[in-house]
Amino acid sequence: MSAAPILVTGATGRLGQIVVKRLIALDQPVRIFTRRPETARSLFGPAARIAVGEFADGASLAAAIRDAGRLLLLSPIGETLAADQIAVANAAAAAGLHRVVKISGSDWTIEPPGSSISGDAHAAVERHLRSLPVEHVSLRPNAWMQVSLANTIRQVLAGNPVAAANPDAGVGYIDARDIADVAVHELLADGIAGETLNLTGPDVVTPRQIAGLLSIALKRPVDVAERPPAGASPHGDFEQRAVAQFATLIAAGRAATTTDVVASLLGRAPRGVETFISEHLAAEAALAR
Ligand SMILES: NC(=O)c1ccc[n+]([C@@H]2O[C@H](COP(=O)([O-])OP(=O)(O)OC[C@H]3O[C@@H](n4cnc5c(N)ncnc54)[C@H](OP(=O)(O)O)[C@@H]3O)[C@@H](O)[C@H]2O)c1
Repeated sequence: MSAAPILVTGATGRLGQIVVKRLIALDQPVRIFTRRPETARSLFGPAARIAVGEFADGASLAAAIRDAGRLLLLSPIGETLAADQIAVANAAAAAGLHRVVKISGSDWTIEPPGSSISGDAHAAVERHLRSLPVEHVSLRPNAWMQVSLANTIRQVLAGNPVAAANPDAGVGYIDARDIADVAVHELLADGIAGETLNLTGPDVVTPRQIAGLLSIALKRPVDVAERPPAGASPHGDFEQRAVAQFATLIAAGRAATTTDVVASLLGRAPRGVETFISEHLAAEAALAR
């Protein structure tokens, strides 16, 4: 066990929870930064230390980071993403932290610049990290199975078709558990594997193929519906506008990429879509019993 705690922001969220549970299972000292200590306590029990605070409160950040060794930098998509993460990174540099592992946006949302408002915000944080005297790695995961693919499965279970702007535009979906495994790897390894790592699952899968896989798993026909991407409402918040941009980029085939980064770092293949679908359906069936 390394003596200095690993500070995790976004710890109570979708990905952060998986990372924290893995670190605790590895007997690593973890400190989580949260506005909701009761939720954190019920999620993680006494094994995780809790630092109550929020990104906009610099004093709470400084207190949380004091004497920490490494940082998992994670925050939700929103208007304040860049400012929040830059504030955490500055506090980390001021405290002399050894390493920052940042969860960034998908590569295709960041490159080329101007592709999406969320990607531009992540790019600003990545640039800022490069200017600080702190070892850092930015993980750029492709779309997560637990978010968009899980939503597709929910829609199909509710009797709806697989809806997509382009049914033949694939996505190199990644399982969030693999992102967590890579994040833990990069937090604990002797050195980082690179400044920017593009993480994907093993295969590019199209909405039409997902309908086929669901049809086999559910033993019934599953239709595909071609729907133009819903344009972002001018009144939509930052996340809604970003998600509308993602839909357009995906329809143009920009998420149809795979890399071998997960396999080369973890020494095993990343989890695939078929496994995710069968696990997800089994979990839904167990809930319904
Ligand atoms: N979904 C995808 O396909 C995908 C793909 C690539 C990259 N990403 C990136 O993944 C990130 C989102 O991860 P996620 O879905 O796991 O996040 P999430 O579930 O939305 O988690 C939100 C977390 O942020 C914390 N938080 C929010 N506002 C805060 C504040 N003001 N001060 C302190 N903590 C605050 C919350 O903590 P408390 O409520 O406990 O305080 C919670 O733990 C984004 O940066 C996104 O760009 C997502």
